Amino acid sequence: MNPALLEHAQRAATKAYAPYSQFQVGCALLTAAGNIFTGCNVENASYGLTICAERNTIFHAVAEEGPGMRITSLAVIALGQEFPPCGACRQVIAEFAAPETPIWFLRDGKPLAMTMAELLPASFRL
Ligand code: THU
Repeated sequence: MNPALLEHAQRAATKAYAPYSQFQVGCALLTAAGNIFTGCNVENASYGLTICAERNTIFHAVAEEGPGMRITSLAVIALGQEFPPCGACRQVIAEFAAPETPIWFLRDGKPLAMTMAELLPASFRL
């Protein structure tokens, strides 16, 4: 595992804009090109406009590296909470990851990795 990636995610979570849910989420991903990108959730008074930390991070990575951006590892953390990525984010991660790509999050206080194939066994593909 890449413990540094979880630490990057933890730091990113402190930047979250989450005045409505108080659920501060941070994400960090490593790309095939060797870059690390981080992001946090950004909420909105019009709740549906909120963007999750994972999608914010992925969209930033594409904006920086271009359409060939590939995720080799991704970590997500919420301050004081433990959870795996939401369903919408799993679909977006799948677009840029392989079935064996590890997704790191905390379970019972310890880092746990599940592959994309485990998290989203039947992702939508065109
Ligand atoms: N959130 C994320 O950032 N990632 C997820 O995978 C699940 C949910 C955010 C969205 C919202 O700002 C807050 O957590 C509560 O749902």
